[in-house]
Amino acid sequence: MKIAVLTGGGDCPGLNAVIRAVVRRGEQHGLEVMGVREGWRGLMDPPLHDRLTREATSGILHLGGTILGTSRTNPFKKPGGAEMVVKNLKSLNVAAVVAIGGEDTLGVATKLHQQGINVVGVPKTIDNDLSGTDLTFGFDTAVQIATEAIDRLHTTAESHNRVIVCEVMGRHAGWIATWAGMAGGADVILIPERPIDLETVCAHIQRRHRSRGVKFSIVVVAEGAKLGGGEAKIDEKLDEFGHIRLGGIGQHLSELIEKKTGFETRATVLGHIQRGGTPTAFDRVLGTRFGVHAADMVARGEWGKMAALRGNAIISIPLAEATAKLKTVDDAFFSVAEVFFG
Ligand code: F6P
Repeated sequence: MKIAVLTGGGDCPGLNAVIRAVVRRGEQHGLEVMGVREGWRGLMDPPLHDRLTREATSGILHLGGTILGTSRTNPFKKPGGAEMVVKNLKSLNVAAVVAIGGEDTLGVATKLHQQGINVVGVPKTIDNDLSGTDLTFGFDTAVQIATEAIDRLHTTAESHNRVIVCEVMGRHAGWIATWAGMAGGADVILIPERPIDLETVCAHIQRRHRSRGVKFSIVVVAEGAKLGGGEAKIDEKLDEFGHIRLGGIGQHLSELIEKKTGFETRATVLGHIQRGGTPTAFDRVLGTRFGVHAADMVARGEWGKMAALRGNAIISIPLAEATAKLKTVDDAFFSVAEVFFG
């Protein structure tokens, strides 16, 4: 049986671990694996693909990015796009697709499954905001990178008596901000789930400087966090899944904090540094487990399902469960981070 594997959406450390595992386990099941280039775009006209073998996927486990390339192409937003995908899968004699992606890529996979295509999903996103799985691969690497950055910002903030606002990724959910903020000892953490109250933020910083006699603070803000229930800072461009391009809250907030507290404040935006480079051991192992499970799902004919981490077990859940709603930071978890504010 011939299967196709593709990576869609933003790249993510650990994608190559999944691809390698699908191929290695797939070959044990007697599957022929075709790598589709650039996400769903690679199944439109003209299709872009290569044969993936053990040899072709050797030496990629530790590499960041994706050897297949990726895109945010949504075939359901192109005239005749979904029909083109179905037609190409037939003409390439592909019996099933392993789609590695986040809410958008898996949303397309869910719709194609409803149209009769055999699909299996693997959950990917540094944002960790997919429901149905305790963790997505890539998140651990992003948290490590952001934590290291916060550690570095601490020493320069302290040397210069400054407040430093560190903007991290997190479009709808503040998982990276909360984990990296907790691990890095942030004095305030701001996430999309809770509107930013500038008064409270400044009060935390002022109280800390007054009562503890320190003259520096670290504020970690997720890019999707909004001031006082207003709009997120945006660039007006939309991608094909209708997402706005975020960014700017860190700089905006640092200007407001400096104005209100009188403390010299600077902003640092970590941006794509959080997504690039080599995956942590945890993400390599999680990606490998997901990839092996996905190949096993294909062999068992478990269509319309996604590999997911529950506790320490990898299980199969309906794709629809993963894409129905986003997994946001819950109050119980965030309240632990709040103990250390100010
Ligand atoms: O979805 C993952 C993510 O890294 C988000 O945290 C971020 O908002 C977005 O991708 C950035 O996407 P792009 O690289 O397309 O600008």
